[in-house]
Amino acid sequence: MRTDQLISTFVEYYEERGHRRITGSTLLPPPGDPVLFTTSGMHPLTPYLEGRPHPLGKRLVNVQRCLRTTDLDEVGDATHLTVFEMLGTWSLGDYEGPRSLDWGYGLLTEGLGIDPGLLHATAFAGDDRTGPDTASVEVWQRLGVPVELTVEDNWWSNGPVGPCGPDSEFFLWSGDGPPQSTPTRDDRWVEVWNHVTMTHRRLDDGSLVPLPQRNVDTGLGLERLASLLQGRSSVFECDVFDPWRRLVPALWTLDEPSLRLVCDHLRSVVALLGDGVRPANTGRGYVLRRLLRRVLTVLRQGQAPSHGIGDLPDELIRHTLDHFRQDMRPSEVRRTLIDEEQRFGRLLERGRGVLARPRFRGPLTEEDFHYLHDTHGLPRELITGLREE
Ligand code: SER
Repeated sequence: MRTDQLISTFVEYYEERGHRRITGSTLLPPPGDPVLFTTSGMHPLTPYLEGRPHPLGKRLVNVQRCLRTTDLDEVGDATHLTVFEMLGTWSLGDYEGPRSLDWGYGLLTEGLGIDPGLLHATAFAGDDRTGPDTASVEVWQRLGVPVELTVEDNWWSNGPVGPCGPDSEFFLWSGDGPPQSTPTRDDRWVEVWNHVTMTHRRLDDGSLVPLPQRNVDTGLGLERLASLLQGRSSVFECDVFDPWRRLVPALWTLDEPSLRLVCDHLRSVVALLGDGVRPANTGRGYVLRRLLRRVLTVLRQGQAPSHGIGDLPDELIRHTLDHFRQDMRPSEVRRTLIDEEQRFGRLLERGRGVLARPRFRGPLTEEDFHYLHDTHGLPRELITGLREE
């Protein structure tokens, strides 16, 4: 099943159950949201989770592009991407968590044909402030799905302040043999779908207050589920990456981990540009610049690449912009990529000059790293790379 079919199956399933489709927003959360980027489908819905009536009613479904930098060092493994899509559903003060889990189970097993024996669940064990999520545990027991209880992993919050609550997650077995162990002990259990019962709001002082209504917020990782349904061993092999895997190896000689990083970060950079972010030394623009520099650093390792980043085929830029329905011109994307490559080249040259000074020949102290960063704009990973040249 291709990702676009997966999206339509998901949306139709929930439309049949009274949900209205809303248009996903961009990677930039609405003003006032505490996070830098949209990291899950609920961000644009925060006011409605907090009680404002939504014009389309109490049951919603959508597809939302998200960006997570918390997982940056994990990009390249089988399941993490910087920019990914989340299929989401919401009950805004309407039905409760158990119904959401029942429908989720129905969609995965009957709707998508997943063997129920390959599922595992987790649920909130309770802590000193909130009791255990017995309602979810009862659903899992009735459905015959094994459930593991955790504390931190099963409390979802939207950054330091905002709506939060206990969650219950669907995991799918990705191993070759029969399922074994539990999600926290064996990472062949892949988390695919999170159902949050949003009951509270965390305030600036860290305290929790009940929300005016009880909501359900779910998020399903599109590329994760697609790769498992397509029998692929990583998100980088699902159909979203087909053109990247076809065209990138012709440009640069890369081992598999580097190929994954380059494809993930370049695709994320195009999506960020398409949403209006521009390279900068702070905030969102710095994240964009950093992603691009990680790519440039990887490309410079090994032999000097014969192709620059400006040689990225139009097809890949266009494929990404079209996928996210963004109307930027590929030539404009290319211009930014080339400018950033040149800027990085100048920084490297300056860095080589500074690092050649006698003061920096021996082992570097933390103070040296701070000085090099603050005075010469040289990030730690770049310094380490230059010293290995
Ligand atoms: N907010 C939850 C998550 O990000 C479900 O959408 O996992």
